[in-house]
Amino acid sequence: MRVAVIGTGHVGLVSAASLAALGHHVIGVDEDEEKIGWLRQGTAPFFEPGLQELIERGTATGHLRFEVDPAEAVAQAEVVFVCVGTPARASGEANLVAVERAARSIAPHLAALAVVVEKSTVPVGTAHRLRQVLMRERPDLNELAVVSNPEFLREGQAIEDAFHPDRILVGAQAQRGFDVMRQLYEPLIRDGNSLIETDIATAELSKHACNAFLALKISFANALARLSERAGADVTVVADVMGDDPRIGRAFLDAGLGYGGYCLPKDLQALEHMAHQLGYDFPLLLEVARINEEAVLAAVDKVRDALWNLEDKRVALLGLSFKPGTDDVRFSPALALAQKLLDQGAMVIGYDPQAGANAKSELPELEIASSVHEAIEGAHCMIVCTDWDEFRSLDLEKAMELLAYPIVVDGRNLFDPAEMKTLGFTYYGTGRAFDRPDH
Ligand code: UGA
Repeated sequence: MRVAVIGTGHVGLVSAASLAALGHHVIGVDEDEEKIGWLRQGTAPFFEPGLQELIERGTATGHLRFEVDPAEAVAQAEVVFVCVGTPARASGEANLVAVERAARSIAPHLAALAVVVEKSTVPVGTAHRLRQVLMRERPDLNELAVVSNPEFLREGQAIEDAFHPDRILVGAQAQRGFDVMRQLYEPLIRDGNSLIETDIATAELSKHACNAFLALKISFANALARLSERAGADVTVVADVMGDDPRIGRAFLDAGLGYGGYCLPKDLQALEHMAHQLGYDFPLLLEVARINEEAVLAAVDKVRDALWNLEDKRVALLGLSFKPGTDDVRFSPALALAQKLLDQGAMVIGYDPQAGANAKSELPELEIASSVHEAIEGAHCMIVCTDWDEFRSLDLEKAMELLAYPIVVDGRNLFDPAEMKTLGFTYYGTGRAFDRPDH
């Protein structure tokens, strides 16, 4: 099929590249000329495992192209994906200006039977608005179908998720929308992946519900971590016990510095705002966000407990991205923590296998090291912020030699508290036994 994808961010680019790999002819469109320039040269504008190869392959076979102007891409497309950003406004409400702008830019070029797909995460009612804008611009399009097809890709595993989705969700008003989407995803459906058909509002709400519930699980684990620290319990074991119950499940119960990224924090806020606008207050969601902020504050407290005054202290952060496998630092708990330490007078030096440059442009006061050893050499405290595998296999005896003080705050519970104690570290895990070291 011929497909246009409007917006080449994390969602749009992965969607475009994976649809091209499934055999469709895809044109990715973005108003950012510099980005399109990179993409035309076959270069992914951000790090996502496997994406670069997929872009190279798609470009080489001619299945994947990139344009700034939507005219040609949209005119020939049977399916047009809208994958533009939906950032949060100060109130928490999703800012849908880019969605409306995208609608206006594609409207003049849409073919009579095109299906427009809302892929960005948006509040309930957005597909209806999208259709309204398109119909105002093109009253002749009486067969126009607008469908909701939320994406469930995880950064860092997005390519894997694109080819092996837990489910494909399509919300549509009429059968033609479902039929076209089934045709588009036929290679995945043939492989046994299920496609769920719903009305549009249900599809839109389902996406927000999933992200909000994931955030809720993480905050529940973090609240239990605070409690475990006070009770002398081990939150990792509590989570294992909970997770053994299939009704609960172990995933997303890892206590730590909390969730970040461009999706969970923003979608939680947007859902809370939308609920309020619909006349239903959902304060549980506000509490989830509060506990998430508390997770970073708890780590600051541990650093202060270990170092007393932070002025003239050098603190090394291991990991700056919001999670492993990505160079994305948007709403990264590591940067929130770095900012708080800087505010209290510490010198903060960070190392990340991928995200150093992005972290530096987000937080210029942060010093960036090019290796773990460089980061921790002479540091008074080392904080694990992101659970990259590289940190799991850290040579702890070498770390002991390099650090000025052998103090470790483990914001992702990567290390074994008993081993750390045996090695002679003053070790602060997150919600674990040995959390109150004598020193
Ligand atoms: C999230 C969802 O998981 C995807 O299903 C969804 O498609 C995506 O948002 C989106 O809406 O686009 P992502 O933002 O890539 O994906 O990140 P997650 O894997 O959900 O992780 C979010 C944060 O939670 C990370 O900072 C991670 O470190 C943290 N986390 C995760 C924990 O603190 N504890 C856990 O147990 C799990």
